[in-house]
Amino acid sequence: VLPKIITIDGPAGAGKTTVARMLAQKLKYAILESGSIYRTFTWLLLSKKRELLPLRNEAKILEVLKEEIPKLDIKADSQGLKVSYQGTDLTQELREPEVEAHVSEVAALPSVRKLANEILQRIAENRPIVAEGRDMGSVVFPKTKAKFFLTADPRIRAERRYLEWQAKGLVASKEEVLSKIKERDHKDSSRTEAPLTVPEGAIVIDTTTLSPEEVVNRILEALKSSH
Ligand code: C5P
Repeated sequence: VLPKIITIDGPAGAGKTTVARMLAQKLKYAILESGSIYRTFTWLLLSKKRELLPLRNEAKILEVLKEEIPKLDIKADSQGLKVSYQGTDLTQELREPEVEAHVSEVAALPSVRKLANEILQRIAENRPIVAEGRDMGSVVFPKTKAKFFLTADPRIRAERRYLEWQAKGLVASKEEVLSKIKERDHKDSSRTEAPLTVPEGAIVIDTTTLSPEEVVNRILEALKSSH
């Protein structure tokens, strides 16, 4: 039998979301997009207490989040994580460049991570999941036997993000996207709390020249041969 928790970690644009989605559909698992929790927290701060960013007062931030979290509805299914706030769906908002620009600083706060991890672990109690993010295999679900780490050349990752942004009608040059991706990678990898790293026991897949289908097949083969 397959493990109930499959983790996929890696930097932005490595293909985690696409691969997690395809894998979840094949296995009938739900997807836990942990980045969406950090994006939700960032959106909450931007829309309710803008003055708290750039971050200075961690205690105050925690207080705001604790007050706002009960107003959220968070559901995981095989399409992804659906988040709504007081009945309003946040899917679009969470992908906005402004949220993206601030999310790494919010995610660097230890107390914020603790809050996110509690939410993530609670969701995973109810159903089998593909958990996708930066520290799923290293911190949040360290005991699972199915861990994957996706990487790709930064230029390719920027190219993928650039195409996504273009499809949404957002204007940015490739250079801008590349520099934003590098900046976010740097912040995510250099923070002291749960930095982006290859989890112990994870299978590393370089997706630079692979299609999402090929990545999914490699993951399925690895899962088959070890379970
Ligand atoms: O994966 P996504 O682009 O949605 O993640 C947004 C941000 O959330 C990341 O750049 C990172 O700062 C933070 N994050 C994190 N730990 C995770 C997932 C995301 O710190 N497990």
